[in-house]
Amino acid sequence: MSEQTGHTSSKRLTGKVAAVTGAAGGIGRAICERLAAEGARVVAVDLRAGDLEPVVAAVRALGSEAHAVAADVSVAADVARWVDEGVRRFGGIDLLVNNAGIEGVVKPLEEYPDDVFDRVLAVNVRGVFLGLKHVHPAMKARGGGAIVNLASVAGITGNGLISAYIASKHAVVGLTRAAATTYPAAGIRVNAVLPAPVETRMMRSLEEGFLPGQPAALKQMMASQIPLGRYAEPAEVAGIVAFLLSDEAGYVNGSLYTVDGGMTTF
Ligand SMILES: NC(=O)c1ccc[n+]([C@@H]2O[C@H](COP(=O)([O-])OP(=O)(O)OC[C@H]3O[C@@H](n4cnc5c(N)ncnc54)[C@H](O)[C@@H]3O)[C@@H](O)[C@H]2O)c1
Repeated sequence: MSEQTGHTSSKRLTGKVAAVTGAAGGIGRAICERLAAEGARVVAVDLRAGDLEPVVAAVRALGSEAHAVAADVSVAADVARWVDEGVRRFGGIDLLVNNAGIEGVVKPLEEYPDDVFDRVLAVNVRGVFLGLKHVHPAMKARGGGAIVNLASVAGITGNGLISAYIASKHAVVGLTRAAATTYPAAGIRVNAVLPAPVETRMMRSLEEGFLPGQPAALKQMMASQIPLGRYAEPAEVAGIVAFLLSDEAGYVNGSLYTVDGGMTTF
């Protein structure tokens, strides 16, 4: 078993080229490592090239190759550029994980700043839309592919203190379902994963936002609302993403995979 990726299984993604947005973040890096460990070459996309250096090194240490591209997923020209670079470097793109996302701020809806709302929607919704749109021709040219969008339990539940994030993740669910109806014509499956809190920077930020100065108490409160009694590790999300991208999930399309320790069963 690999200590880095936490998995034991075979190289299901050998020969595939996988693009991951938000690759420098907690979940993005875990996904890059898992996909590389399963044999994929990785196009790693994030805002700053410097932040991607450790990810590229980790992928290489796992015996695969990575190409880092600095790009903003909310900007169409940037998305077109990373797709183009990935195709030129590795000959095509077979798999995409639309993972880049931001949390916005924690504020009652009636006080929520308009500009923050717009930015959260731009990154989390337009970013996923542009990824789906621009990768389609490249995947079609390869005869098909698979896409996983990072939604969240926030895509099927409500919380008036993070309204932009909630709205954005509901929209990611909508985009997943929309694409899943037409993309199979090009041999492309589209699914979403919906994690509960995951141990990354994003949760540290939200804990501080929900209970300023007492993040540990907030974390304990959140964990107590999850039947498994804890947050997810990034590798636990990455494992489901790898499964959905693999041929083992060949009949899975338009699905919403909760990775939430049972949180949404209440
Ligand atoms: N952490 C959680 O508890 C949790 C739970 C459910 C869903 N998610 C989702 O998982 C995804 C990854 O979250 P994370 O926890 O790893 O967060 P993170 O903050 O660790 O990573 C997010 C990454 O996205 C990048 N990014 C932000 N805006 C971008 C842009 N415009 N263009 C390109 N890259 C951009 C950031 O630079 C960062 O590297 C997000 O979509 C998030 O909403 C997270």
